[in-house]
Amino acid sequence: MSYNGSAMVAMVGKNCVAIAADQRLGAQLMTVSTDFQKIFPATAKSYIGLAGLATDVQTLSEKFRFKINMYKLREEREIEPRTLSHMVSSTLYERRFGPYFVEPVIAGLDKNNQPFVCAMDLIGCVDIARDFVVAGTASDSLFGMCESLWEPDLEPEDLFETISQALLNAVDRDCLSGWGAVVHVITPERVITRNLKARMD
Ligand SMILES: *[C@@H]1O[C@H](CO)[C@@H](O)[C@H](O)[C@H]1NC(C)=O
Repeated sequence: MSYNGSAMVAMVGKNCVAIAADQRLGAQLMTVSTDFQKIFPATAKSYIGLAGLATDVQTLSEKFRFKINMYKLREEREIEPRTLSHMVSSTLYERRFGPYFVEPVIAGLDKNNQPFVCAMDLIGCVDIARDFVVAGTASDSLFGMCESLWEPDLEPEDLFETISQALLNAVDRDCLSGWGAVVHVITPERVITRNLKARMD
């Protein structure tokens, strides 16, 4: 779970949610890439972040893309974030005794534009939060930063600043994550995606 390194966080705001991750891919302490994708779009208003073993991140992102497309074809509507979290959870629990080494984070707005964030462990035990969720090798320091910075009812721009500062300062205390970051802020009207410049040491 900590071989390739990662930092993942999602936060609830006022009628908005944000999800952010670092961009490092490593083999233990050797950095191999600094533009590795760990957050994947699920629908127009929801994203899946996958922290953990890079090979399983890519395998599962493709598996979820397929399942989300099949849901859309069958139901003729987009999957709700809460339903999506159950789909991710059961996919992981199917491999209960030989699991994928990933910690997923899901963030989105439901059909009434209510924020939804959740995280789960590698066998799909779901943790739904009202404030924020974290995952990856920087999760201890992310908990510390989020507990200090997060407050209720943040507007999109303030939520962006809060999640960005939480992530950038958390990865500076973790050798296995950082080297660039990406942030998505999901609002009812649009998704704001920004790449953050980070320390490269
Ligand atoms: C990620 O970790 C696995 C072992 O857990 C390793 O085999 C692989 O080489 C790592 N990825 C990269 C790109 O180094």
